[in-house]
Amino acid sequence: ANPAGILGTGHYVPDKIVTNADLEKMVETSDEWIQSRTGIRERHIAPDGINTSDMCTIAARQALEMAHTKPEEVDMIIVCTLTPDTTIPSTACIVQKNLGAVHAAVFDLYAACSGFVYGAITASQYIESGMCKRVLVIGAEILSRFMDFTDRNTCVLFGDGAGAAVLGPVEQGYGILGADMGADGNGGKYLHIPSSGVAILPTDEARAKHLTYIKMDGKEVYKFAVRVMGRTAEKALERAGLTHEDIDLLVPHQANIRIIQSAAKRLHLPMEKVFVNIDKYANTSGASIPIALDEANHQGCMKKGDIIVLAGFGAGLTWAGLVMKW
Ligand code: ACO
Repeated sequence: ANPAGILGTGHYVPDKIVTNADLEKMVETSDEWIQSRTGIRERHIAPDGINTSDMCTIAARQALEMAHTKPEEVDMIIVCTLTPDTTIPSTACIVQKNLGAVHAAVFDLYAACSGFVYGAITASQYIESGMCKRVLVIGAEILSRFMDFTDRNTCVLFGDGAGAAVLGPVEQGYGILGADMGADGNGGKYLHIPSSGVAILPTDEARAKHLTYIKMDGKEVYKFAVRVMGRTAEKALERAGLTHEDIDLLVPHQANIRIIQSAAKRLHLPMEKVFVNIDKYANTSGASIPIALDEANHQGCMKKGDIIVLAGFGAGLTWAGLVMKW
């Protein structure tokens, strides 16, 4: 098999910043509560007129440039999002058109905050089999359009953004060495947008009841996250024939600093080996890991031969982890 690795990364966040102090003016909350319970200081919010595909396109161009890949060389585009521009066409089709990636097979992948890791694992299968040479995996969300700015339990937690990576064949012994993904549909009720598909159409009544917004049982999601985040990383490490002692950098889903700290503890990792940027972006769902990966890349946190672990969890409920040699 051809090992699959990351050849380039990119990210984009909208210019508009909403601070915790801004949210204090909208709901009964405080900067102190938000920072101490979540680690979040501010988030970026997409203005009207900017859609998920626009952010994907910018992040993708950066990743392609770093990977020295022309759009027409891309064999596949996977857009991991729960906030597509439209149900049809898929966001991946819009991005394909924007980039001019005329030879790419394209589709959206739906695994919420685990989406990018699901997408990267999926991409690796096409590369390992030899079917694809260049796969663009993008995680992007405009969660703000589904945020209830009267509900302090959720509106302080999320932000908008996009991150992208180009995957392709790498030298033997490098790239993705082990992976894990899974789901527990029984937990779907803990994090959902009731009126977001065909089950409950967005009627005036649904809107009046705020059913078009994210509903979350924070405590249940927290317990789940603490249970699965370290576990999925451990399973991926085991499949790679490695242990927690081999990890050089953990790039976790950025949902809550306390969840990240508990995963680090389970993996016996000092926080210096964990990449954290939740303070600037909040939880950008499917975009959080690729944004963090691109920032870590630009900050020189990964050197050739390092063992990098990605670990995420999200609505569904879902989880995914992967281990790669950089
Ligand atoms: N400001 C002030 N008070 C608040 C706020 C707020 N923004 N939000 C909730 N509170 C209140 C609650 O109402 C509660 O008050 P009560 O006891 O009077 O009812 C109190 O704070 C304490 O609430 P807890 O739930 O105990 O707070 P906790 O420390 O558990 O933190 C949090 C809550 C941050 C939501 C945490 O549970 C969490 O991070 N859960 C996981 C969320 C998550 O990761 N979601 C994303 C999943 S990924 C995806 O797919 C999108």
